[in-house]
Amino acid sequence: MAKPVQVEVWNPNGKYRVVSTKPMPGTRWINLLIEQDCRVEICTEKKTILSVEDIVALIGDKCDGVIGQLTEDWGEVLFSALSRAGGKAFSNMAVGYNNVDVNAANKYGIAVGNTPGVLTETTAELAASLSLAAARRIVEADEFMRAGHYDGWLPNLFVGNLLKGQTVGVIGAGRIGSAYARMMVEGFKMNLIYFDLYQSTRLEKFVTAYGEFLKANGEVPVTWRRASSMDEVLREADVISLHPVLDKTTFHLVNKESLKAMKKDAILINCSRGPVIDEAALVEHLKENPMFRVGLDVFEDEPYMKPGLADMKNAIIVPHIASASKWTREGMATLAALNVLGKIKQYPVWADPNRVEPFLDENAPPPAASPSIVNAKALELPVSKL
Ligand code: DGY
Repeated sequence: MAKPVQVEVWNPNGKYRVVSTKPMPGTRWINLLIEQDCRVEICTEKKTILSVEDIVALIGDKCDGVIGQLTEDWGEVLFSALSRAGGKAFSNMAVGYNNVDVNAANKYGIAVGNTPGVLTETTAELAASLSLAAARRIVEADEFMRAGHYDGWLPNLFVGNLLKGQTVGVIGAGRIGSAYARMMVEGFKMNLIYFDLYQSTRLEKFVTAYGEFLKANGEVPVTWRRASSMDEVLREADVISLHPVLDKTTFHLVNKESLKAMKKDAILINCSRGPVIDEAALVEHLKENPMFRVGLDVFEDEPYMKPGLADMKNAIIVPHIASASKWTREGMATLAALNVLGKIKQYPVWADPNRVEPFLDENAPPPAASPSIVNAKALELPVSKL
């Protein structure tokens, strides 16, 4: 028998039982559930990553919906347990859902929610922060100061790269990739090369208009180009940020060969998913090319790093915090809770999962809809007219 798991209970007499596998930021998400007659149980176990057995124990015999995390393995075992407990809905508190077997959820008629629309700028801002930190060697310089090594200004101390006039490369120009591209183009006057299966007309128009503005003011205009392959971006850009979805086509997209084709002093940023980069090959490349720099928010075998990565001065490594602004994390919690609540209450699915502002307005009740259900079509769920 699985060991019982510690929980904190809100509104014990609520009709519907909703479980969150982690405490989440803010209280609005809890209040919204309680207002709709939910008993909310929040797992307070100290361990960071819950096992499948822990989550089965949390689900128990009666559970209407679960809010879970990207570190959990949501497959056949968990969806069958949730279905047995009478569950109707699961939501990841994340936009990515590569930890979820959606086919298994479909088999049990369980809706799977995610949280797009609220992470865009926050994630792009972290990618931009890592780009700057890598270009200007901020982490190395900070360590140097703290270690008491600074004994006076020197012409060669921590010389890095100027971004202005260089080329920023974006692989995956969806919401986050486009927001990052705009920040780098507008903020640092970088030229853009991007690869995406779909043309990003809005992004192209933005760069064209900004280029015209610069020209009209006597400055060198910025330019854009849509590449015909990911390799073209890797070869040509000075700073490359990866924003693709992780699937078979993007697994180890950056590998030994593509690293070799990149500029020796390029900067590579990854705030998408770790396995997009062959991390062992990256460590070798960083060793052989001290001017090549990376900023990583995600790792191939998260939470672990490949041997040697932590020793590399030319790598900036942060623990998957791209979405970690207060506004975004509270918003993600709210959207995840409303996804689950919406299915329990048989609300329709919101027509545009990226237009989430009405759900985030603290001064008004949220629409009676689930903000984003990824298997809505497969389950033939009704779509909101709003
Ligand atoms: C997501 O939502 O997929 C992010 O990786 C979490 O920050």
